[in-house]
Amino acid sequence: MHKYLKIDPWCIIEEEFNPENHSASESIFSIGNGQFGQRANFEEQYSGVTLQGTYIAGVYYPDKTKVGWWKNGYPEYFAKVLNAPNWIGIDIRVDDEAVDLAKCKVLEFKRTLNMKEGYLQREYLAELPSGKQIKAIVLRFISMSDPEVGAIRYTLSPVNFDSRLEVTSYIDAGIKNADANYDEYFWDEVSRDASGERGFITSRTRKTEFDCCVGIATSLEMNGVKYLQSPKSLERDKYVGSVYTIAVKKNDEVVICKYAAVLSSLYHRKPEIRKDAERVLDSAVEKGFNQLFADHQNEWKKKWEHSDIVIEGDDEAQQGIRFNIFQLNQTYTGEDERLNIGPKGFTGEKYGGSTYWDTEAYCIPFFLSTAPQHVSRNLLIYRYKQLQKAIENGEKLGFSHGAALFPMVTMNGEECHNEWEITFEEIHRNGAIAYAIFNYIKHTGDQEYLSDYGLEVLIAISRFWKQRVNFSKEKNKYVMLGVTGPNEYENNVNNNWYTNTIASWTLHYTLEAIQIVKDSYKSKYKSVLKKTKFNEANEIKNWQEIIDNLYFPVDKNSGIFLQQDGYLDKEQMTADQLDPEQRPINQYWSWDRILRSCFIKQADVLQGVYLFEDNYDTEVIKKNFNFYEPRTVHESSLSSCVHSILASRIGNNQRAYELYLHTSRLDLDDYNNEVHEGLHITSMAGTWMSVVEGFGGKRIKNNRLVLNPMIPEKWKSYSFKINFRNSLIGIYVSNEKVQISNENEIATSLLIYGREYDLAGNAEITLPQMNYHS
Ligand code: BGC
Repeated sequence: MHKYLKIDPWCIIEEEFNPENHSASESIFSIGNGQFGQRANFEEQYSGVTLQGTYIAGVYYPDKTKVGWWKNGYPEYFAKVLNAPNWIGIDIRVDDEAVDLAKCKVLEFKRTLNMKEGYLQREYLAELPSGKQIKAIVLRFISMSDPEVGAIRYTLSPVNFDSRLEVTSYIDAGIKNADANYDEYFWDEVSRDASGERGFITSRTRKTEFDCCVGIATSLEMNGVKYLQSPKSLERDKYVGSVYTIAVKKNDEVVICKYAAVLSSLYHRKPEIRKDAERVLDSAVEKGFNQLFADHQNEWKKKWEHSDIVIEGDDEAQQGIRFNIFQLNQTYTGEDERLNIGPKGFTGEKYGGSTYWDTEAYCIPFFLSTAPQHVSRNLLIYRYKQLQKAIENGEKLGFSHGAALFPMVTMNGEECHNEWEITFEEIHRNGAIAYAIFNYIKHTGDQEYLSDYGLEVLIAISRFWKQRVNFSKEKNKYVMLGVTGPNEYENNVNNNWYTNTIASWTLHYTLEAIQIVKDSYKSKYKSVLKKTKFNEANEIKNWQEIIDNLYFPVDKNSGIFLQQDGYLDKEQMTADQLDPEQRPINQYWSWDRILRSCFIKQADVLQGVYLFEDNYDTEVIKKNFNFYEPRTVHESSLSSCVHSILASRIGNNQRAYELYLHTSRLDLDDYNNEVHEGLHITSMAGTWMSVVEGFGGKRIKNNRLVLNPMIPEKWKSYSFKINFRNSLIGIYVSNEKVQISNENEIATSLLIYGREYDLAGNAEITLPQMNYHS
């Protein structure tokens, strides 16, 4: 854990320059707009430790797999989010001396991420080795209103000298991924040109052949007057720039304004991409910095209107939740069904921008409640479009007849995870994809989705489960052998309770979905039957047989659901018995020791209890929570949120709050000493869930919004909004009262603390706050 940022409700603030924190800050202060993103690297040269990162949504490279011993079935490559051409570079030299904060005395420094308006600002006063002092304010944003545009305003003043200043604004396309398996370049240059204020480079990814064109236009003002002399152009391999050389006097103010157009062949035809980049740049320059910035701020305002959570009385918690919401909204905007949400979004390379089960299990609930319906629908369609590839993934592992195994990690539908126990065994991801369909329909009421897309996916996943179980004569039950559950600190286990639970649930839901489509969308049902070659009588019978006879490990004495066969044979310890010096255990213990221990990385049994809580009474939930949570080391970012929600559910408010703080400030306070690698974007949705589903007790049951709000002791109040079936519901909770407002004209009915209320359009109800737990 490392705390160095100032607490503020709307901003993340770093008040001094400590090079040791720099790469963590580069992650934390990242900005993006769903289409491209940028770590908080400095514009000017920096020779200290840094991870340079510019990322473009959907642009990836299949890096050849690197493993010790090849096993049949391994994916050939790991899809990497690509470090893309750097558009932010602005080098500054004072009389041939480079401004490089690693080599300067940094006298004043402040870095601010303004989450309300979506920009990054850095202020510094630095003394160069020669004793010359320079002052700067640098503002950067990636436009939410003009999705292919980024802009920088770099304001400079000489403090104690008159001199010659050289400003080089450039694009560097000679970049590498720090995590490249074979230290290769992933990009080739297609074209480059530079003249005066402008420069363009088109680059092409090797193997995948994505084109990306970056164009920049840089202008300069001196004491409020445009500097008319044209800059000198620079051009070399994978590099273009514009160089301004100007004479400056003490206290002069030089403003460098840099616009960038970042285009990819996802949205442009390759032969036209250079021309299109020029057009995008023209329109940005024409709008001007102030207008672009105002439009961008306005888009953020709209996003916050729906997705903000306001917490009164606890600025640390407030900052934490806003940071999470901010990062989610700048990672995924939901307009393109080819895009998804990488665990690190646009903030780092490890796990990159690839798709994991995180999207379905964590992110979809956030977007379902805070964004228009099409946003989560697009995330479902993403998987639908990859169904054929999922069937092929299944075939590669020996499955047949249209059985789909969706990948653990993917960019294009193909599995590309490189660790066998996860690639082949962590099959519960299939269940999350089925559950997301159910969850989407539960929230939106869009039943037609089942007949148009959902049923095909469900049939294919159910076929997989059917083939993945086998009948044990010994147990006289179906069993599922050799799996890895969500707890990756156990591999190749038999009868992981969670995996069996989600498999059985999927089969059951598929049967239900078949009935719905058959009854309500007859002709579509026929075409699904045909397309999937569905053997209705046989397949339904087989699935029902598995539902009725699947084995679930349970401890007979205590009634606790067992994580897997034999879990209780392990030496039983709780995480508080661990030496704090040896945590996180994955950084101190051998892998072998971890596998043999009883310690749990993230919710496993409890993930199932969370998803299917209606099947269990509070005592059962309590019993399992009290057994498993103390054995959990929460070394996955996805862990604390589910535990926090369950702690709220069983009335353990103190633990719910502690776990909430852990999830909401995981990156800001660097709990797992890894934030320099990038942020945990997907778990951020879990933080939102811990407030809304945990403290707010929000559920959807029988087509109705259900709320059971409680409030953490430290808070004065909290409030949030939820989309529900065309209504927008505002929820305010304080120690004294719960206020529910219907923010549009569509009437709805809700269940609050177990009582039914009808809420007319634009109406409001107020009730006493009951700290309710059933
Ligand atoms: C977790 C997985 C998760 C992945 C990406 C791993 O540490 O165990 O559940 O999918 O991170 O977030």
